[in-house]
Parts: sequence; C-alpha cells; structure tokens
Amino acid sequence: MTASSADSGSSVLLRGIGQLVSNDPVVGGLLGVIENAAVLISGGIIEWVGPGAEVPSADDRAEIDVEGRAVIPGFVDAHTHLVFAGDRADEFGRRLRGESYQEIMDAGGGIMSTVGATRAATTEDLYSATAARVERMVAAGATTIEVKSGYGLDVATETVLLDVAARLDSDLPVDIVSTFLGAHAIPSEFVSDREGYLDLIENEMFPACAPLARFCDVFCEDGVFTLDETRRVLEAGKRYGLVPRLHADQLAASGGAGLAAELGAASADHLDHVTPEEIAAMATAGTVAVLLPGVSLSMRLPFPDPGPLLQAGLTVAIATDANPGTSYVLTMPFVVALACLEMGMSAEQAVWSATRGGALSLQLPDRGWIKAGAAADLVVLDADSYLHLPYRPDSNLVHRVVKSGRTVERSP
Ligand code: NIG
Ligand code: FE
Repeated sequence: MTASSADSGSSVLLRGIGQLVSNDPVVGGLLGVIENAAVLISGGIIEWVGPGAEVPSADDRAEIDVEGRAVIPGFVDAHTHLVFAGDRADEFGRRLRGESYQEIMDAGGGIMSTVGATRAATTEDLYSATAARVERMVAAGATTIEVKSGYGLDVATETVLLDVAARLDSDLPVDIVSTFLGAHAIPSEFVSDREGYLDLIENEMFPACAPLARFCDVFCEDGVFTLDETRRVLEAGKRYGLVPRLHADQLAASGGAGLAAELGAASADHLDHVTPEEIAAMATAGTVAVLLPGVSLSMRLPFPDPGPLLQAGLTVAIATDANPGTSYVLTMPFVVALACLEMGMSAEQAVWSATRGGALSLQLPDRGWIKAGAAADLVVLDADSYLHLPYRPDSNLVHRVVKSGRTVERSP
C-alpha cells in the first residue's frame, strides 16, 4: 500500500461527487449531505467544500472526477486490540460446539492463550501480522485506528506492542492512536497476587508505556478487574498524562460506565448492560459511548441497544473491537451494516457513528468530517449513496481511500 503519485501534489480537487456526506452540522441534517459536490484539498487538509458549480478557480492542481459516486469521511475505528500473534480459531470452533467463553478461559484459553502466543512471537512477526491486518482495514476505508496493548501483560511485551503500533503509525498511510491496556487480564504468574500485578502496572508499566500511548484502558468486569482496581489504574494513568477510556458493562452491569463518567473518561465501550443511571451520568460528563456489534455477532450474544443512549443525547461511536477472541472483525463497512441490521440504527446514525462519533471518542476534532480545516481523510464509495453500506452488506463498496489528501487505496 503506497500513496499514489498521481495526486500527491499539494492541491487536489475531487469533483463529480454525487453525494457528499460532510457530517458538518452547518450544512444541516445529521450527515450534512451535499449533492453534486466538490472538495478541494491542499497540503493534506480540506480547503474548501461546496457545490460543484462553485469551485474556486486555480491554475495548478490535480483533479479527480469520481463520476457521481458518494464520498464519506474516512472511518475512525475507535476500539481495536490489533497487536497480537496467532489466532483462536480452535476456541471459536469450541464455542460453536457449545462451550462458553468463560469455560474456555478457565481452562487456560481466552486472553491468556493470546498472551502466550504474543510473548513467544518476535517483534518482527508481530509487526508483519499487525501490518497485514491494518492494510485490510485501510483498504476497507479506515483512516484512523485506535490500537490497544494488552496481550503482553509484562513490562517488556507491553512496551513492544506499543512500539509496533508506533512503527505502523509512521510506516503505513493511516493514523494509529495508542492505548495502554496493561489491565486487560491478570497474567497467570500473578493469579494469586493481584496486588503485585497492580503494583507492577503502576510502578513499572506506566513509566515504560505511558510515553508511547495517549489513552489508558481497563477491562472492568466481574471476574476481571473490579471497580476499585479500575479506578486505581486509571487514576495512576492520569498522573502519567493518559486519558481514561474503558471496557464497561460488557458481560454484566458492573458499574464501569458510571466510573468512566466520574473519572471524565473519553469513552465507555461495550455497554451491553449499561444502566439508566450510568447513561445519565455519561450524558452529564460528556463520555462517548462506543458500541461494538462485532462482539455480539461473534459471541452469538444479544446486540447492544443504541436507543436509550441516543435518546439521552450521548455521542455514540461504533467500532470493530478487532481482536482474536471475541470479534475478529476488521472492516468498518461491515460494522455499519451490523449496527443497522442488528442494532436497529438508522443508516445516517451508523455512518455518523463510524466516522465523526469515532473521532470524538478519540478526542480528534479535526477527523470524521469533511469541512474546511479538517484532515483530508475520505472514502469514495462504489455507489451513489451511503445507504448502500448497510443495504449491500457483503459487497466491498470502497472505490478509493484518501488519507491526508493522498490516494492510498483504489479499486481497479
Ligand atoms: O474487547 N473485553 C476484553 N477484551 C476483548 C476480548 C479479548 C480476547 O478475548 O482476547 C474484547 O472483547
Ligand atoms: Fe475490547
């Protein structure tokens, strides 16, 4: 995947856009749709957006005619666990035969089996396996991807995972935003010394990992990390400059979303069992809700309900949760389709949540919309409307991906 030289000059006009999803509230409607539009990009930033008939004149610029296709902002995938080795296809097969996630975990599988494979892998193997996943995601329209650590669970391996994420950010045409998730599970060597593991996170992992991450996450769940442990880790992370976001109320109502609100977390993610009180607290705190329908699909569980979250006025994002255990789902168009077909979201809300919603959850105000001053990250669809994303859920509808003004992926 390399940037095309044809449009790598500093100024590019994208014209012939049949339907532009700008997500700009000034335009009106949730998606700020402009028909027969054009977008002028300069130096990787959007310079002008408007009707094709009103394009400012200029002598020297490249032009791309998208021939009536729809253009949407690049997808912002705000929740992934992408850096890991191996896979868990066997466990998946066992679950299809009736074993539960918990039974497999109790027998030494689950997160710890990926931790074993990840610790045993070389850094180069981790890099190339993760790069291959990132390339698929970019080909499907992701232009910004959050990546968590959490399959190392020791100081050296957690650092390697964040280093790999940083290298991918500089090597591939996508922005990677890193999250430290040392509190993903208690590693087997600490099962009888939880306090010892929390001390290790606080005293050794943060000093090594915080410089490589922007956010800190905890898997707050019954049987994983308690509310008190979660609070301790996130507060320590804040002292190292990391903004909290957290896995909350995934398998049961555990109070995680309420804690996210209390600590001013950027997001609370999963939320399958969130309570009305927690929703109210999140609304007051401005915590973004990140819903992950790939997990419900892969785990054959009920899908989260976006209705009460949206009614409370929360910002709702949707993301892949790409990971080898509960959601080996890599592509955002598929998540948009699941959000519509299985969570009952409107197409408008799903497209907004997969773009602007993700950007807001990552505190990246210049992403997820197409307006002057924003990053020039956009996706040209091989269709004349965003509606085709959920309508044709098994088709690859990505015609071209533009990252920072450069074409990084184009269908033949
Ligand atoms: O988001 N919830 C915790 N972490 C992952 C699952 C990790 C795994 O099973 O490897 C998730 O679902
Ligand atoms: Fe997750």
